[in-house]
Amino acid sequence: MTRIIRVDPVNFEPGELAPAAEAIRTGGLVAFPTETVYGLGADAFNGRACLRIFEVKQRPADNPLIVHISSFDQLNEVAEARRLEALKRAWPGPLTVILRKRPGVPAEVTAGLDTVAVRMPAHPVALRLIEMSERPIAAPSANISGRPSPTTGRTVIRELYGRVDVIIDAGETFFGVESTIVDLTKDPPVLLRPGPFTPEELEALFGEVVIPEEARGVSDFKQALAPGMKYRHYAPQKRLLLALNDDVLKDAVEIVKVPFAMLVSQEKMEELSRRAGDNVRFIVLGTETNLYTVARSLFESFRRLDELDVKFGLIQAFEEQGIGLAIMNRIRKACGRSYVRSAEELMKEISEL
Ligand code: TXA
Ligand code: MG
Repeated sequence: MTRIIRVDPVNFEPGELAPAAEAIRTGGLVAFPTETVYGLGADAFNGRACLRIFEVKQRPADNPLIVHISSFDQLNEVAEARRLEALKRAWPGPLTVILRKRPGVPAEVTAGLDTVAVRMPAHPVALRLIEMSERPIAAPSANISGRPSPTTGRTVIRELYGRVDVIIDAGETFFGVESTIVDLTKDPPVLLRPGPFTPEELEALFGEVVIPEEARGVSDFKQALAPGMKYRHYAPQKRLLLALNDDVLKDAVEIVKVPFAMLVSQEKMEELSRRAGDNVRFIVLGTETNLYTVARSLFESFRRLDELDVKFGLIQAFEEQGIGLAIMNRIRKACGRSYVRSAEELMKEISEL
C-alpha cells in the first residue's frame, strides 16, 4: 500500500528515488524530506492529485500549497518571476516567495488565489526527486492538519503510513522549522512566516522588508494573535504554557506539585533539575549557545510532551535573533494564548486545566 524508501540524506543513488518519481508522474502522493521539514507532495500541474493532499491531511481547502521547483525554468512555468537576481542568490534554500501565478497552475494548489507560493529546496533528496519527476511538486508539510510539522522519517511513517503511495525516509531534516515565507507581490516585500532564512538575510537580499506584528516578538503578542491567524498550527494536544521569564521557570519547580514537563535548553535543565522534584519531567531543547539545535528539536519536543503522562508543559522563551524569531513564532502558536509572567499567573493557568 505505502512503499517506504530509506535513503541517506546526502549519499544516495538517484535510482533509489525512481519509484517515488514514478508515483509523482502518475498522480500519486509522496512524502519526502526537505531541509526544513518533511513535505507531502504531488504533481503541481495535476489538480486531482493535489486535491488528495488536502483529503489525506484533512487540510482546509482554502489553505494553499507551496510549489517546489528544482530549476529556474520551472519557476517560469509556475509564476511571474520578480527579484530574480535575489532569488538566484537565495535558492536552493529555505525561502518561499509569493508571486503572481501562471494560468496553468491549478486552483487546487493556490486555493483559487491569483498568487502562488514557490520555493527551491536545498535538500539533495528533494531536489533530485523534483528533477526525476520532471515537474514541480506541490507540497505542504507532511503532518495531519493542526499537528506539528514532521522533522523525522519515523514521525512521517507514524502519521501517514497507509494513506500515501510512497514515504521517503531520510532521517532527520536539517533545520526543523518550516521555510521563511515572503510576499514579493508587495513592495517592499512582506514577511508572512519567519523561518531559517533570517530577517537579517532577507534584508541583505531584498533591501527593506516589512515585518508585521504576527512575525515579531513575544511583547507584541496581543496584537499578533488577535484576528488574521485563521488556523491553529503546530499545536501539541496537551496544554503548553510559555514562561516569559526565568523566574517563572524557577518558581514552577518549587510550587507546582502535579506532574508536568519543562521544555528548556540543556543549560536551563542543568540549573533547574537540581531543585526539581519527581513530578517534573525535562524535555531538552538543544543548547542556548546554538539556536539551530533548538529549532531542530522543537516539533519533536511537542510530540514528546503529548506522549508523557503529565498534566501540561511549560516552555522557556528564546531570544528573537536570527532563527530565534522563527522559534518564538512557532512556540507562540503552539501555546495559543497561554503566556505566564509570574507565579500567580502560572497558578491561575494551572487551576483552569
Ligand atoms: O518548509 C516548508 O515551507 C515546508 C516544506 C515541505 O517545504 N512546507 C510547508 O508547507 O510548511 P505548509 O503548507 O505547511 O505551509 C505553507 C504556507 C501556508 O501557511 C499557506 O497559507 C502559505 O504557505 N501560502 C501558500 N500559498 C500562498 C499564497 N499564494 N499566498 C500566501 N500564503 C500562501
Ligand atoms: Mg504545515
